[in-house]
Amino acid sequence: MHILVTGGAGFIGSNFVQHTVATRPEAKITVLDALTYAGTKASLDGVLDRIRFVEGDIADAALVDSLVAGVDVVVHFAAESHNDNSLANPWPFVQTNLVGTFTLLEAVRRHGVRYHHISTDEVYGDLELDDPQRFCESTPYNPSSPYSSTKAGSDLLVRAWVRSFGVAATISNCSNNYGPRQHVEKFIPRQITNIIDGVRPKLYGAGLNVRDWIHVDDHNSAVWAIIERGRIGETYLIGADGEVDNLTVIREILDLMGQPVDAFDHVTDRAGHDLRYAIDSTRLRTELGWEPQYRDFRSGLAATIDWYRDNESWWRPMKAATEAAYAATQQVVAAPVAGGSGEEH
Ligand code: NAD
Ligand code: DAU
Repeated sequence: MHILVTGGAGFIGSNFVQHTVATRPEAKITVLDALTYAGTKASLDGVLDRIRFVEGDIADAALVDSLVAGVDVVVHFAAESHNDNSLANPWPFVQTNLVGTFTLLEAVRRHGVRYHHISTDEVYGDLELDDPQRFCESTPYNPSSPYSSTKAGSDLLVRAWVRSFGVAATISNCSNNYGPRQHVEKFIPRQITNIIDGVRPKLYGAGLNVRDWIHVDDHNSAVWAIIERGRIGETYLIGADGEVDNLTVIREILDLMGQPVDAFDHVTDRAGHDLRYAIDSTRLRTELGWEPQYRDFRSGLAATIDWYRDNESWWRPMKAATEAAYAATQQVVAAPVAGGSGEEH
């Protein structure tokens, strides 16, 4: 099987490539990645001689057509992926997430190539903290941010290309990933690398917001289950029952790194900040027999902390610019009143 992996130099895509090279040595892999601020070939260290790496844009129709023509499957990870960036400048999100996905869909349509679309649970909006419901495949779309709305739009393009043109596609919507090689702009690596640098971690609002954490390797094993056994045209939600609020995560990181659990700052909250995500992955588990391997969040977090301690040369080049951008928009604020919904009071 020859696979084209878009965004293979980013967090989840590079872990997918590393995992695939290790577990499916017969697979031939081509990576297409524009190496934006979020991508680095260093994430493919150890496997670059086993794959073909093409630096380029998924919205480059001629390049995409020539690559898609030679493969059996496209797995589409490439995206602008960070909510905070989408609030500062939505344009790259529209271009990459919508125009880029459109370009890939037209190519797989022309060449009759199987396509798997990587998406997010954020397309469903957010839940109240005490809502007994979780997101499932029939939950209506209700995205909040420029990031999540462009991901929702890209999912809808895929659905239309399946129905109108018979494209052989599947979609997965996954919850928050953690693990090695995640950019230091994201919540968990930002706090770990801040603590390594002697800087206090930064919590948005009161920290009551809940995310449904899954280890990146569990996300990628689910993606493989869908590629191999998923029903064409279907959507599968990927989650590992990992709901934790941000305040608890920050305290766990501080504790695991030998710091007092209250040694963090509250900072300006994110505009439109989604309160809670929660995934019901029954379809994936019952239809495809998938189960997560990482069931203990604290030990997964400890291994992730070790990875950042051992791989400073990987993250150091991106740290200063990331914190400078945050400093321009975020200020330390007084601790919000307990019991609030995450907004400042
Ligand atoms: P990331 O930001 O770490 O990586 C994105 C990669 O895409 C980078 O290597 C970047 O260089 C590349 N890229 C960006 N624009 C491109 C373009 N125009 N052409 C080619 N390459 C381009 O993102 P991630 O966290 O690894 O997310 C990967 C996918 O998974 C995204 O589609 C995201 O929406 C989805 N997702 C992420 C999470 C999460 O928790 N991180 C959860 C669910 C779904
Ligand atoms: O749910 C899946 C989504 O998870 C993916 O689609 C996105 O690509 C991915 O970035 C992630 O989105 P979030 O916005 O949930 O992740 P982020 O790491 O930016 O933030 C996680 C939570 O932590 C969120 O509630 C905001 C909060 N936060 C974030 C940062 C960077 C803080 O409290 N402090 C911070 O410094």
